[in-house]
Amino acid sequence: MNYLVTGAAGFIGSHVSQRLLSAGHQVVGIDNLNDYYDVNLKHARLDLIQSPNFTFIQCDLADRQAIAALFEEHAFQRVIHLAAQAGVRYSIDNPHAYADANLVGHLNILEGCRHHKIEHLLYASSSSVYGLNRKLPFSTDDSVDHPVSLYAATKKANELMSHTYSHLYGIPTTGLRFFTVYGPWGRPDMALFKFTRAIIAGESIDVYNNGQMRRDFTYIDDIAESIFRLQDVIPQPDESWTVETGSPATSSAPYRVYNIGNSQPVSLMAYIEALEDALGTTARKNMLPMQPGDVLDTSADTAALYQVIGFKPQTDVKEGIKRFVTWYREFYRV
Ligand SMILES: NC(=O)c1ccc[n+]([C@@H]2O[C@H](COP(=O)([O-])OP(=O)(O)OC[C@H]3O[C@@H](n4cnc5c(N)ncnc54)[C@H](O)[C@@H]3O)[C@@H](O)[C@H]2O)c1
Repeated sequence: MNYLVTGAAGFIGSHVSQRLLSAGHQVVGIDNLNDYYDVNLKHARLDLIQSPNFTFIQCDLADRQAIAALFEEHAFQRVIHLAAQAGVRYSIDNPHAYADANLVGHLNILEGCRHHKIEHLLYASSSSVYGLNRKLPFSTDDSVDHPVSLYAATKKANELMSHTYSHLYGIPTTGLRFFTVYGPWGRPDMALFKFTRAIIAGESIDVYNNGQMRRDFTYIDDIAESIFRLQDVIPQPDESWTVETGSPATSSAPYRVYNIGNSQPVSLMAYIEALEDALGTTARKNMLPMQPGDVLDTSADTAALYQVIGFKPQTDVKEGIKRFVTWYREFYRV
């Protein structure tokens, strides 16, 4: 099958592209290779994808003509849309980057899907959409109308925009609410990467909210496997669905939203301890207050995911962190 993967030079996009290629599919990967973090890492991820079935095109999601031409040129059957301006904290100071990549960009992808009868669009949402929700574990059956960062608001907006296109044009769409993804080839702006770099350099690490946070840390291979299985689960309209009686994660349109998380939340201090063990050293910790836009706890209810794909993320953080550290030491030769 012929796939478009957006954000192919990114952390999740590069892994998903490899997973699709290893199953014999054709993949066109796009990415604008922006410098939000080290561009060399993005190039290195692309260098890993060695397959005659892979074509890389550098282009910007927000470039309406370029995205329209891309869909015109390639007869995509399925689209896995992972490119976005990521990061909660960066959205406090750089809100417009999120409007361009996540709102205009998402609309351009939806338009491409609309005009080229795409069989299935899967797109990245985020656990951050749960915002002020306090009921744990977070369930896709609960409403998510109170985001606490612009990043989260754009991800919720992506779900709303997708629902509209599923309803109006019958495009099957699946939203993927990822919970803190980590692992080899990860993102330098995320805690595990920053902690590892600092600890190896003998610097102290910044621990927010005095470490009083819990996260559902999800290993990258589990994310790639979940997406790989979900792309075959094409949403169907649920004729019996009503706003009053149905779940927000489903609809009378061919629309679904799933949590993809480890469903075993770990405290930030336990996560740091696992990293200290893997590195064989103790970190000096700089205890800081809570950051604006952050949430205290995340925990995924993955029952609906398991029901449709017979799989749920389950890699133990100690094992996942060990694999990350092995990769980090090898890649940076430290
Ligand atoms: N990693 C996580 O923990 C996590 C959690 C929840 C949701 N997500 C979402 O999953 C998706 C993938 O995240 P990731 O961790 O791989 O991030 P990433 O930053 O590594 O990958 C995103 C890629 O998109 C590209 N990109 C950004 N703006 C673009 C634009 N305007 N045009 C073209 N390309 C553009 C970037 O260059 C990057 O390579 C994102 O949508 C992110 O918001 C990630």
